[in-house]
Amino acid sequence: MAHYLLIGASGGIAQATAAILKEQGHSITTLSRSEALTDSADHHTVESYNQEHLPQLEMAIDGLVYFPGTINLKPFHRLKHEEFLRDYEINAFGAVSVVQQYLPNLKRGDSASVVFISSVAARVGMPFHASVSMAKAALEGLTIALAAEYAPVIRFNAVAPSLTQTNLSEKLTNSPEKMENAMKRNPLKKVGSPEEVASAICFLLTKQSSWITGQVIAVDGGMRNIKLL
Ligand SMILES: NC(=O)c1ccc[n+]([C@@H]2O[C@H](COP(=O)([O-])OP(=O)(O)OC[C@H]3O[C@@H](n4cnc5c(N)ncnc54)[C@H](OP(=O)(O)O)[C@@H]3O)[C@@H](O)[C@H]2O)c1
Repeated sequence: MAHYLLIGASGGIAQATAAILKEQGHSITTLSRSEALTDSADHHTVESYNQEHLPQLEMAIDGLVYFPGTINLKPFHRLKHEEFLRDYEINAFGAVSVVQQYLPNLKRGDSASVVFISSVAARVGMPFHASVSMAKAALEGLTIALAAEYAPVIRFNAVAPSLTQTNLSEKLTNSPEKMENAMKRNPLKKVGSPEEVASAICFLLTKQSSWITGQVIAVDGGMRNIKLL
C-alpha cells in the first residue's frame, strides 16, 4: 500500500480524494490551514503553503496532490494587480513550494506521482476569468515542464474540472436558478461532484496510471472539447 500527501486537505475535492484513498487501503498525511474537516491520523496545520511554513516530513511519499485554488471572477478592468498576484500565489506558486519542499520524499517513494488541480478555465476562454485562467494555465505549464524534468522517476499530471459542487463554487450554484443555468451550460447537463473529480485524481496518483505523465485530464462533462449544436 502507498503513502500519499494531500496539501489543502480541508477542501471538498480533497476530502473526497482522502476517502477513496483510505477505502483503497492507502495511508495519508494531510496539510491544511485548518484543523477542521479532516480525520487524518497524520495532520499538520500550516499558516500558508509558502515553503517557510511547510513542515519537514521524514517518510517516503508515493504521491502528492496540491489542492489549493481560488475562483475570483471579476470584470478584467476591476481586477487589481494584488488580486492577480494572490491568485497566482495560491493556485500556481504554492504548487512550486510544495514540490520543492517534498522532492526528497518523492524521490524516495515508489515511482511517485504528483497531481495538480487546474480548471477548465485554463483552456476555455470565459468572461471574468482572467486571473484564475492565467494562474491555472501557469500550473498546466508547470505540469508538463516537471513531467519532463523528473521522468522517469516522478510522474506529473493534472486534472482540470469544470464547475464542481464544493464551498469554492457555492456562489455560482447557491440558488435553483444559478444551479439550473450551470447545468444547462454543461454538455452532460450537470454540475460535477467532488467524488467524480477525486476518482480521476486517484487514478493519476496510483499505479493504475503508471504509463501516464505530462497530461491534463479534463473532468468537466465535456466542457473543454464539446460544443453542442
Ligand atoms: N469547485 C469547482 O467548481 C472547481 C472548478 C475548477 C477547479 N477547481 C479547483 O479544485 C481545487 C479544489 O477546490 P475545491 O472545489 O475542493 O474547493 P474548496 O472545498 O473550497 O477547497 C479550497 C481549497 O483551496 C485552499 N484555499 C482556499 N483559500 C486559500 C487561501 N487564501 N490560501 C491558501 N489556500 C486556500 C483550501 O486550503 P485549506 O485546506 O488550507 O483550507 C482548499 O485546499 C482548487 O484548486 C480549485 O481551483 C474547483
